[in-house]
Amino acid sequence: MDTQGKTITCQAAIAWGKNSISIEEVQVEPPKTGEVRIKLISSGICGTDDHVLKGELPMKFPLVPGHEGAGIVESIGNGVSSVKPGDKVLTLIIPQCGECSFCLHPKGNFCDKQDVLPCSGLMLDGTSRFSCKGEKIYHSFRVSTFTEYTVVPEIAVAKIDAASPMDKVCLISCGVPTGYGAAVRSAKVTPGSTCVVYGLGGVGSAIVMGCKASGASRIIGVDINEEKFPRARALGVTDCLNPRALQKPVQEVVMEMTGIGVDFAFEAIGHIETMVSAWNSCNNSYGVCVIIGVASPDSKLCLEAIKIITGKTLKGVCLGDYKTRDCIPQIVSDYLQNKINIDPLVTHQLPFKQLHKALELYHAGKTIRCVLLF
Ligand code: APR
Ligand code: ZN
Ligand code: ZN
Repeated sequence: MDTQGKTITCQAAIAWGKNSISIEEVQVEPPKTGEVRIKLISSGICGTDDHVLKGELPMKFPLVPGHEGAGIVESIGNGVSSVKPGDKVLTLIIPQCGECSFCLHPKGNFCDKQDVLPCSGLMLDGTSRFSCKGEKIYHSFRVSTFTEYTVVPEIAVAKIDAASPMDKVCLISCGVPTGYGAAVRSAKVTPGSTCVVYGLGGVGSAIVMGCKASGASRIIGVDINEEKFPRARALGVTDCLNPRALQKPVQEVVMEMTGIGVDFAFEAIGHIETMVSAWNSCNNSYGVCVIIGVASPDSKLCLEAIKIITGKTLKGVCLGDYKTRDCIPQIVSDYLQNKINIDPLVTHQLPFKQLHKALELYHAGKTIRCVLLF
């Protein structure tokens, strides 16, 4: 059936408010100028989605959650030239408009056209493409993916290799570049260095992969869920710490283990307490602390000001510092050429209809990444 130019009725998850999600029949309007409608094939469940569903980010409800998506272009709006119907694509939580000050700067990746800070929940023209029983439903970060069909700005779409295995590559939409890039591009982990990674979920695991690929000699993994340790060790973690099983603060243990503190510390949880622990795990001279976890917007970091003069670096990173449309298709190609292996991160795959079971597995700490299949 030709759906081009028509509203599509399909199944989508709707978060009605905090901790209230259900699968509903929704209407998805055709893409407007500069937009692309995508038939989703897979979507990962990322830690950021969990923050959204718990109401920890200032998002407008009701919304269609999800952002880590892989799919096939169903139709395109006027003016779209980089993709055509049938192309395999990934959704990008950070777009690349190519025109704003950040896109034009060689180092910038936090495109002005993103909808993360702040979240409008609307497309670039200020309207929504989703409705349910006549009610307007908001988008999440302009890339909602817990839905059979979505509409996304062209600048938030990356065309990928036609040979991509669509049941897994959704991880390269967010979790893999977020973690891997934090290590190789933002921190620039050096051979023989010591690292600590707070949080061994999907993003933390990709950080570990990046540290390992950069030749780190010691990678300390920190998580309160010891079920994460065997998989983390398989990826390259050399020492595992459960802060709840320690007699003293975890950063003190990291200090004792390394003598002076690590060269590179990463936070991939989203709690201010673990951000401070990561900062205090770094050595005082040339230590680099990279924050990847998304904290709630009203929380504040409290650091000892005197420590800042010692030479340590504190930085944050979003989507691995990649210029997304330029770089993310290359990560997919690297995966296809066995230069990077994302397979160990995909621990579960479930049909979209079993979203609640997938969320239960996530909350029980059983998954690294659970992929929803449409
Ligand atoms: N101390 C240590 N580990 C913790 C703590 C804590 N206080 N609280 C949670 N964790 C662990 C969890 O057990 C889990 O293994 O942090 C990990 C988080 O992993 P995921 O839930 O899989 O989330 P992920 O997708 O990796 O995202 C992590 O990065 O991009 C951001 O918004 C994202 O803030 C989130 C973070
Ligand atoms: Zn831009
Ligand atoms: Zn994500």
